[in-house]
Amino acid sequence: MPLIQPSVPPLPPGIDLSGKTAVVTGATAGIGLEISRLLLTLKVSNLILAARNVSKGETVRQSLMSDPVVKSTNPNATIKVLKLDTENYSSVQEFASSFKTEFTDLHLLMLNAGIGTMAREFASTGHEKNIQVNYLSNALLSLALLPTLEATASKTGEPARVTWTGSRMHMRTSLTGKLALKQGEGLLKHFDEAEGIPSYARYGDSKLLGALFQLELANRYGADKVIFNNFCPGVINTGMSDVLPIYFRIPVNLVKMIMARSPQKAAWIALNAGVVVGSESHGQFLADMSVLEPCDFIKSEEGQRIQKLLWKETCAEMGGLIPLPAWMTGPN
Ligand SMILES: NC(=O)c1ccc[n+]([C@@H]2O[C@H](COP(=O)([O-])OP(=O)(O)OC[C@H]3O[C@@H](n4cnc5c(N)ncnc54)[C@H](OP(=O)(O)O)[C@@H]3O)[C@@H](O)[C@H]2O)c1
Repeated sequence: MPLIQPSVPPLPPGIDLSGKTAVVTGATAGIGLEISRLLLTLKVSNLILAARNVSKGETVRQSLMSDPVVKSTNPNATIKVLKLDTENYSSVQEFASSFKTEFTDLHLLMLNAGIGTMAREFASTGHEKNIQVNYLSNALLSLALLPTLEATASKTGEPARVTWTGSRMHMRTSLTGKLALKQGEGLLKHFDEAEGIPSYARYGDSKLLGALFQLELANRYGADKVIFNNFCPGVINTGMSDVLPIYFRIPVNLVKMIMARSPQKAAWIALNAGVVVGSESHGQFLADMSVLEPCDFIKSEEGQRIQKLLWKETCAEMGGLIPLPAWMTGPN
């Protein structure tokens, strides 16, 4: 990433999301908040703010409703807060079932909630927290809402969309270093148990899993009903670094001061992936607004072995939680 990030063009004119329903996770701050605001100004009809803290979500809902641009462009939008804590699977499942009780259609699922914790912490599922929040819960929510996305696509005749907020940091995975995965070693177990994974690498590792999952998904599942992709918005001025230890936060904040983009620009990049680009982006990673070829590690023999292993382990994990479609578990 150069020290000066290139400027970001706004979305093309004429996007009109009237009649559409969108879910944004991590909608209470930073990039997710601005994705939500932009969706409203693009006239989305139903917007679901998925928030781990419902009262914070309600405050955000009120602020969006009283935003003058939203008030003038989309005064009749329905904005709803639903609880989602991606640290645990039961919350993901409860979110999916509450959503399905209230809404029949889903056109756009923006899986944006994310953390970058450097401490070695574990979610209640037993998995390392970055892996749980940034990868496993996104996989579960994508799959839990897939039947609704597919049904919506059949109704409208155009693919529904699932876009994850990824990161270029996935290219800096710890799997290329001294802690490479051994033959026969489990991947999720490795991230949960391996001592000595550099704390700064956990975030990138979790984002790598998202990129690999989508690449493998696209090998098995076409883009005709649902287009999946993930993107990196570059360095963005949000509160994400506030949780870092002081010795790391100071240099990160310095970098942010020099080069960070605003969360509004991140929202342009996010909705470029979510509504502008087409099936050519299915399963792909977009750096800013363009599809980027997979990195050398992903293309390597070891990267490909890990992609398949991740798929197998993800199917086993998700299969214990929800019924899986046949294309997931069949041979490829
Ligand atoms: N900022 C950057 O430079 C940058 C660069 C590349 C990618 N990203 C990615 O962009 C996404 C958004 O990050 P951000 O920069 O906007 O950070 P942020 O300002 O810290 O926002 C993170 C959002 O995720 C929510 N969240 C965190 N843990 C959650 C959980 N367990 N369950 C449900 N929601 C949870 C937060 O909720 P609360 O409000 O309750 O905390 C907040 O709404 C993340 O996926 C991040 O990895 C950021």
